[in-house]
Amino acid sequence: MKKIALLLAALFAVLQFVPAAPPKSNPSFDAAKSFEAVMRPPGDVLATLRRACFDCHSNETRWPAYSYVAPVSWLVQNHVADGRRHLNFSEWLLANETGFSDWSGFEKVCTEVRTGAMPMPGYVSLHPDAALSEADSKTVCAWVDSKLAGAR
Ligand code: HEC
Repeated sequence: MKKIALLLAALFAVLQFVPAAPPKSNPSFDAAKSFEAVMRPPGDVLATLRRACFDCHSNETRWPAYSYVAPVSWLVQNHVADGRRHLNFSEWLLANETGFSDWSGFEKVCTEVRTGAMPMPGYVSLHPDAALSEADSKTVCAWVDSKLAGAR
């Protein structure tokens, strides 16, 4: 029994040297092309999204202590890389874009919040401050709807 415990401890130690791909980073970005600059959300909407979404959907990820410990670190880094690929509030416009056009993608911000699909439930259990109330999601959706009404 003791041998197995030692073996597991050794394995855990070795895992720490296995680098996760992609690496943990917060790439720099052009603030003029960010969600905040382009969409001009009201303060309460921006604060809600920052609190509940930005860790996985922006280049301003707050990497928690557990994201430095393998094998959890690999999981966290995959979620962030995957999240950024789907939706990145920091890179709201692509480098070659001058105006925003992906309105159906924008609409999903409300859909995900309303259905409770996002923020990811596993994340919320570790980050209770990211939980959204009914009122939070109503505020986000009301603003998204008003933007969509003006755009279409
Ligand atoms: C813990 C990380 C994490 C958090 C926090 C998070 N997301 Fe996600 N999000 C992901 C990942 C991973 C994907 C891609 C896989 C998937 O769709 O489940 C994703 C996908 C999405 C998509 C694309 C869905 C599609 O069909 O293309 C939208 C929109 C989205 N998230 C919105 C949000 C919003 C809005 C918030 C905050 C209220 C949020 N997410 C919080 C990780 C996260």
